Amino acid sequence: MTGDMASPRLVVEGLTVATAGSGAAIIEDVSVQVAAGEVLGVVGESGSGKTTLGLAMVGHARRGLEIAAGSVRLDGTDLFSLPPDQLRRRRGAAMAYIPQDPSTALNPALRVGGMLKEVLTAHGRSGAEADARVQELLAEVGLGSQPEILSVYPHQLSGGHRHGVRLPAGSHRAR
Ligand SMILES: Nc1ncnc2c1ncn2[C@@H]1O[C@H](COP(=O)(O)OP(=O)(O)O)[C@@H](O)[C@H]1O
Ligand SMILES: [Mg+2]
Repeated sequence: MTGDMASPRLVVEGLTVATAGSGAAIIEDVSVQVAAGEVLGVVGESGSGKTTLGLAMVGHARRGLEIAAGSVRLDGTDLFSLPPDQLRRRRGAAMAYIPQDPSTALNPALRVGGMLKEVLTAHGRSGAEADARVQELLAEVGLGSQPEILSVYPHQLSGGHRHGVRLPAGSHRAR
């Protein structure tokens, strides 16, 4: 950690996620800080709580779990004190969760193009702007010559294509 080099942008204190029923802790009392440009790796065996921690950092607990204690501050803002619409606006803009497995992360009932576009329109782009950006993103991941990808469903894509589609959706960068 290089917390003394720059003031941290992300400050997690005492984060605890527990099962909603029994209250058994999945992760307990986790505190980390991340400065701008810093990369934090979390290592642990399967089932040790890495995904639970990552999701809690963007204010989400999977069904059956709840964020039981602690705080997450991003650029000084306490995420858990934000109303849901404000938290949602930060997701995909100031912070993003990029899931590990694109075959389960993509919505099987939605066409690929619609899914990509939804992220952009949810963050304020007009339909035309979103369409243009989707084309750019497709080109960025090397799929620009295959616009037909946008009109298919995730199960019709190869694994490699799903990875390409997933990344720009979760990580549209500031421009
Ligand atoms: N909804 C849930 N209800 C109860 N336990 C859960 C739920 N989701 C995950 N878990 C448990 O939480 C633990 C951590 O899971 P996870 O964060 O996915 O681990 P990792 O990403 O490190 O493989 C696992 O033991 C898993 O069984
Ligand atoms: Mg995981």
